[in-house]
Amino acid sequence: MDKFIVNGGKRLCGTISVSGAKNAAVAILPAVLLAESPCIIENVPNISDVTAIFRALEALGASVKRIDLNTYEIDPSCVNSFIVSKEMAQGMRASSYFLGALLGRMRKAKVAPPGGCDIGLRPIDQHIKGFEALGAKVTIDSGMVVAKSERLGGCSVYLDVVSVGATINIMLAAARARGMTVIENAAREPHIVDLANFLNSMGADIMGAGTGVIKIRGVEHLHGTNYSIIPDQIEAGTYMVAAAATRGDVVINNVIPKHLESIIAKLREVGATVEEGDEYVRVSMDKRPEKCNVKTMPHPGFPTDMQPQFATLLAVANGTSIVTEGVWDSRFRYAEQLTFMGADIQVDGKSAIITGVDGLKAAPVKANDLRAGAAMIIAGLIAEGETEIADIEYIDRGYELVVEKLTAVGADIKRVSDTSFDYVLKAN
Ligand code: EPZ
Repeated sequence: MDKFIVNGGKRLCGTISVSGAKNAAVAILPAVLLAESPCIIENVPNISDVTAIFRALEALGASVKRIDLNTYEIDPSCVNSFIVSKEMAQGMRASSYFLGALLGRMRKAKVAPPGGCDIGLRPIDQHIKGFEALGAKVTIDSGMVVAKSERLGGCSVYLDVVSVGATINIMLAAARARGMTVIENAAREPHIVDLANFLNSMGADIMGAGTGVIKIRGVEHLHGTNYSIIPDQIEAGTYMVAAAATRGDVVINNVIPKHLESIIAKLREVGATVEEGDEYVRVSMDKRPEKCNVKTMPHPGFPTDMQPQFATLLAVANGTSIVTEGVWDSRFRYAEQLTFMGADIQVDGKSAIITGVDGLKAAPVKANDLRAGAAMIIAGLIAEGETEIADIEYIDRGYELVVEKLTAVGADIKRVSDTSFDYVLKAN
């Protein structure tokens, strides 16, 4: 397995361009199954989660053609299977979206439970509640989730928890159901809106995405479309925090500043200067960050997917901050890794008490999950000396060209394979 070696202590300065949003792509690509003719999808991030979805689409019978670096043509007309096997689902958090998409298209789906990051229990009871309300029968067969229905009919579903995945899955299954489906207490993340815009561009009739109530009037047919995925809010946020953490000055291009409001607000609270343009933000910082408290919440609250990265910035802040995780049961596994680098973090249930230290020290650490991995990169950028980050396959799941993008703004980061890593160790 590869590792990253980060030689920290360098200010990041320059421009970074953000890729297409992972969490929109992993919903939109399975949604192509609902169309009856080819779709051209632009701004697709080249990350391993997306590669896994393409493999699954091909195994189902769809054809996937790369048109240029980030543009793909997907023809779902030859799809002839409704099964996403364990092998296909492995390493892919979004395998459950194949349930909604296949149910909507074929009225049956058999899908292995999701793999991906270990950030606590990841139940799908609200997805199942939605499928059942639409008229599907859902069972478990040899560890696979099976959903079947003779006829999907519009329904009203109230989500007991605000769930991104359940909202998306119900939208997928309802887009071609008969009649009107209403999702109450729906998630409002930018990728929910992006999926609704994508489905509407295929001929769907979806209103209210981005609010707590989404109405889906089912249509009989959906056609192919050309669509460009929104920029990745979390990738943008990660580079914004990296800029502040290295007391740098970075323009982050190809963003929708509205999607970054909570991150911008918190960066300003710790003392960073954030300038907002139409499609860019510029983050600069010339002093030690101030302490601040953060609580993660569903959108438009502060995103849980930015929690480890922001906590890393607070690890070197002036004073004590409290970070509270309001979405997942367990998302502080990275804290131990930060303590190996000299951070002072006490985790107590859903909160972490972070007492800022003057600086971090380079150390061998690992990525416990995707965003924990991003946090380790930021920690490595802060720390003087050489930080080695293991298990970077998690980072590859969600950050396109992370080494190239950071190098372009002055970071000293490289990817080494295990063998060259041994060499680096010997050489030192
Ligand atoms: C999505 O996961 C994202 N993944 C996650 O991104 C993100 O952390 C999460 O939303 C919250 O924003 C994708 O979009 C692929 P949820 P999802 O359903 O849909 C509980 C990243 O780093 N819940 O909104 O799986 C659940 O336990 C990641 O990019 C139920 O109780 O999250 C959690 O506490 C990882 N029953 C809360 O709801 C259900 O049926 C939110 O989960 C579903 C969820």
